[in-house]
Amino acid sequence: MSVQKPTTSKSKQTTVQRLSAPYIRSLKGASPIVSLTAYHAHTARIIDPYVDFMLVGDSLGMVMHGFDSTVPVPLDLMIMHGAAVVRGSSRALVVVDMPFGSYEESKELAFRNAARIMKETGCGAVKLEGGSYMAETIQYLTERGIPVMGHIGLTPQSVNTMGGFKTQGRVKEEWAAIEKDAKDIDKAGVFAMVVEGVAEPLAAKLTKLVIAPTIGIGASKECDGQILVLEDMLGLSPWVPKFVKEFGQIGAAIEGAVELYAEEVRNRTFPSEAETYKMLTKDPKAKPENKPVSKPTKTKKRPASS
Ligand code: KIV
Repeated sequence: MSVQKPTTSKSKQTTVQRLSAPYIRSLKGASPIVSLTAYHAHTARIIDPYVDFMLVGDSLGMVMHGFDSTVPVPLDLMIMHGAAVVRGSSRALVVVDMPFGSYEESKELAFRNAARIMKETGCGAVKLEGGSYMAETIQYLTERGIPVMGHIGLTPQSVNTMGGFKTQGRVKEEWAAIEKDAKDIDKAGVFAMVVEGVAEPLAAKLTKLVIAPTIGIGASKECDGQILVLEDMLGLSPWVPKFVKEFGQIGAAIEGAVELYAEEVRNRTFPSEAETYKMLTKDPKAKPENKPVSKPTKTKKRPASS
C-alpha cells in the first residue's frame, strides 16, 4: 500500500488530500506525531493544518456533556460529533473512538459498529481500548478494511474495574502484562496505539517493542507522538491532570469577553451603530448603509439577510 506524504511549510502543514492511517504509521522513527482531540466542526477547522490526526475521543462525554466518566457515552453521540469534525476538517486523519459497549462483546458487533461509524461520519479510522483480549477483534476489523488505533495503559472505559483513573506501570511488577498488551495489539495490526498514564521507562520500552507508533498522553516524551484533550491544553477545563500543559488560557479569555458583553448590554453601549441595520435607501448611488464600521476582525460578518 502506498503512503501519501504531505508537503510541509514551517509549523503549518499543507496537503491536498487527507492523511491516512498508513501514513501515520509510516511516521514512526521519522517525525514526532502531533494530535489533539476535536469534538466539533469549528475547532476541527482551526487545528486541521497543525495536527497529523484528530481524535473524536469519548472524553467528549466528560468534557462536553458533564458525565463523570466515558462509560455512559452512546454510539450515536460519537457519530454526531465525528461527522461534525469530518465536515470541519479537510487534511488531518480523523479517528473516532468506539464507546464502551459498542465493541467488546464480539468481533462481529465491533465490525458492525465500526462500519457504521465510518459510513456515517466519513472518518478514516476508529480507536478502541484494551490489550491482548481485544487482539482478535482488532485483527478482524483491520482485515476487513477498518484501520484501528489501539489504546493501552490507563484505559478510561475500565474505570469501574480499575477503581479509578489510575496511572499504570509505576512498579515493575505491572510491566509484563502491559508489554504483552502492546505486543499483541501490534501483531493484530493496529496502525498506532495510544499509551495513556504510564511511567516514562515503561513508555520508552513499549515504544521500542512495537512496530506501530505509540501516541502518549501522560506517558512522557519517550512516545512516538503526543495527544492531549484540546480543551485541557487550551485552559478551558476546570481541572487538569499533572501531565497537561496549558498552552493557552481560553477559559479566562471567554470569561473576559462575556463580562464585557454583559457590561455593554447593561449600559446600552452594545449594540452600537456598527452592529445596527438602517432602513434601505432607494437611491442606487447612495453609500451602502449596512457596511460594518467597526475595526476589522478575523470574523467575517454574515450577509445582512441572515
Ligand atoms: O477519549 C479521549 O480523549 C482519548 C484520549 C485521552 C487519548 O482517548
